[in-house]
Amino acid sequence: MPKNDLILRSIRGERIERFPVWLMRQAGRYMKEYRHFRAMEDSFMDFCKNVDLAVKVSLLPLELLRVDAVIIFSDILVPLEPMGVKVEFVEGEGPKLTWSGKLKDLKKYDPSENAYVYEIIKKVKEAQQEVPVIGFAGAPFTLVSYMLEGKSSRDFRKTKLFMWEREFDFKNLMERITEAVLQYLTAQAQAGADILQIFDSWTSFLSRNDYEELVFPYVEELIHRLKEKTDVPVIYFFKGSSSFIDLAQKTEADVLSVDWSLDLSLTMLNSDKVFQGNLEPSVLYAKEDIIKFKTLELLRSIPRRSGYIFNLGHGLAPDMDFNKVKLLVDTVRGYTIN
Ligand code: CP3
Repeated sequence: MPKNDLILRSIRGERIERFPVWLMRQAGRYMKEYRHFRAMEDSFMDFCKNVDLAVKVSLLPLELLRVDAVIIFSDILVPLEPMGVKVEFVEGEGPKLTWSGKLKDLKKYDPSENAYVYEIIKKVKEAQQEVPVIGFAGAPFTLVSYMLEGKSSRDFRKTKLFMWEREFDFKNLMERITEAVLQYLTAQAQAGADILQIFDSWTSFLSRNDYEELVFPYVEELIHRLKEKTDVPVIYFFKGSSSFIDLAQKTEADVLSVDWSLDLSLTMLNSDKVFQGNLEPSVLYAKEDIIKFKTLELLRSIPRRSGYIFNLGHGLAPDMDFNKVKLLVDTVRGYTIN
């Protein structure tokens, strides 16, 4: 049990002194220390596979920001590689995925091929007993959309056309990836992850109907089967939260991580779930007094004394100012519940 178990207590709805805080993408390019380590490997995938470097980078936010959880350093695209998808990161362009596009060419996922990820979890736990360790994976739709687009996309045209015109194949692909993510997350729990987060970053581009019929059933099933296999709390992050919140509530996720499209205080009043979020990340581009004001405004609006984790509504960006991120974390840490 980590010394600081605020997050775990907040998830269980137990008494806490202050709301816990961690930030999506907390280990990243906005930190000069990250850039220092990143320069030690040319390719981003090699960097992810360099266990010692990944452990050091995972620990940076704990050392420099004093957050209440460490998320292991990796990427959501990592489990696609053992399935036969070539994953590269092109400087200034982002992820690039290459495969034939034919289901028959996808290899059956073997979780042991991501052994380096479980090694990172074990070593991060050995290196510090201060805070819980978060393992993660992409949600089926977010991974499938990367596979179909081959890169980040502005309109997800290929994904949508595939989904509508080749529904049978789309469902098959979603099933394959759901199975892989289930095995990948189970292995992370076995390695000692204290919490698991599922990132559904691209759902905001979907209509309500497509999410409900072609995306939600897979994530619901994934979480259900994961909860059968492990006791580890599960966080489901989904973009476009206001459109899908009622469906997300039906999952067995312990925590819903939401973006700034919804009124968090109102949502929490109408729900028994634990929530994480939802400060708009762009607030971090504003002046210090605005960052403090918006953060305190959100904290004061939380209608509970537990069952909440502070986070952004999406991840930190590379061009954000470290000192402002630190101010944000300090502001949350300084807000006591009375
Ligand atoms: O949160 C953390 O600090 C843990 C590490 C983490 C990374 N990616 C490191 C990373 C996590 C949890 C992710 C998840 C991830 N990766 C998501 C879901 C979260 C979200 O933001 O929606 C997504 C969509 C990806 C896919 C991905 N990987 C993108 C879009 C990029 C940026 C590409 C670019 O060059 O801007 C990456 C690469 C990546 N993953 C970086 C980091 C720190 C930057 C690459 C580098 O340092 O060279």
